[in-house]
Amino acid sequence: MPAPQGLTVEGPTSGDAAALPASAARRVALDECLASLLRPTSFEAERYRVLRHAVETMRRDAHLHVVAVTSPGTADGKTTTAINLAGALAQAPGARVLLADVDFRRPALTRQLGLEDRRPGVLDVLLQPEFTVADSVRRLAQFNLSVLPAGVGAVAPYEALKLPRFEELVEEARQRYDYVVLDTPPFVPVPDGRLIAGCVDGFLVVVAAHRTPRKELAEALGLMDPAKVVGLVFNGDDAPIPPYYSRYADPRRRDRSWWRYRRGFYERRTQREESPSTWSRT
Ligand SMILES: Nc1ncnc2c1ncn2[C@@H]1O[C@H](COP(=O)(O)OP(=O)(O)OP(=O)(O)O)[C@@H](O)[C@H]1O
Ligand SMILES: [Mg+2]
Repeated sequence: MPAPQGLTVEGPTSGDAAALPASAARRVALDECLASLLRPTSFEAERYRVLRHAVETMRRDAHLHVVAVTSPGTADGKTTTAINLAGALAQAPGARVLLADVDFRRPALTRQLGLEDRRPGVLDVLLQPEFTVADSVRRLAQFNLSVLPAGVGAVAPYEALKLPRFEELVEEARQRYDYVVLDTPPFVPVPDGRLIAGCVDGFLVVVAAHRTPRKELAEALGLMDPAKVVGLVFNGDDAPIPPYYSRYADPRRRDRSWWRYRRGFYERRTQREESPSTWSRT
């Protein structure tokens, strides 16, 4: 496996955004699962490009600007999917893409991106008027990507998401960026997703191969507004790379870093009582 690569970050480096030099830059290391950022020509990155295409199409046809990545339970691959999707979207020349962490319970964007500081971030913007989205984002210039960490704040996640400022924050992000990708908590065990639903245009629901129980997926979909479920992302499939592609792919890599995307699953399921086991490869 290749060693994680470093990236240069520009933006706040401490809790006091006002006192920070805008050009503060540091070298940090990335999680190896971030194929869109680390191995943009790999098979895995191409699969995330398929997801990017779906999101771009929905932006054009259905005004999908703000998309939240969720899953029924924990550790299904939400954060990994959110980062790879945002990284793939940001590869379009001129695209303005914001990746924001609204999982205040297990904030992971900074960890997976190798960023040192969680502050300032969403919670700081929500709780302290002196913080804005504009001066809290980290700019990953080499990926053309803007990142807003979860931040820090002494408030329960549910109460934070209920603040009117949360809706304003999402609106501010919507105005400033072409795509806003939100990394969110699991939908079933905690109520956060129900509040986030009011501010976003759609949810991508990550389903972990060999891991997410069907019952839990059904429960999650039952809790969500069907109109907001814009697709399912099947993460961690261990199917082999198709022979057609193998000559392009690095033969040393056989990890699970790719996924399948299924659109309109929910509608078809309700119409035909289709079960998740009938998914087909896209
Ligand atoms: N497709 C994949 N291939 C290999 N490893 C993966 C893949 N997807 C996720 N992982 C790994 O699985 C772990 C959990 O992934 P991730 O943090 O993205 O899940 P999550 O749903 O965001 O978890 P949480 O519920 O804690 O927020 C991480 O260590 C991540 O690197
Ligand atoms: Mg996560």
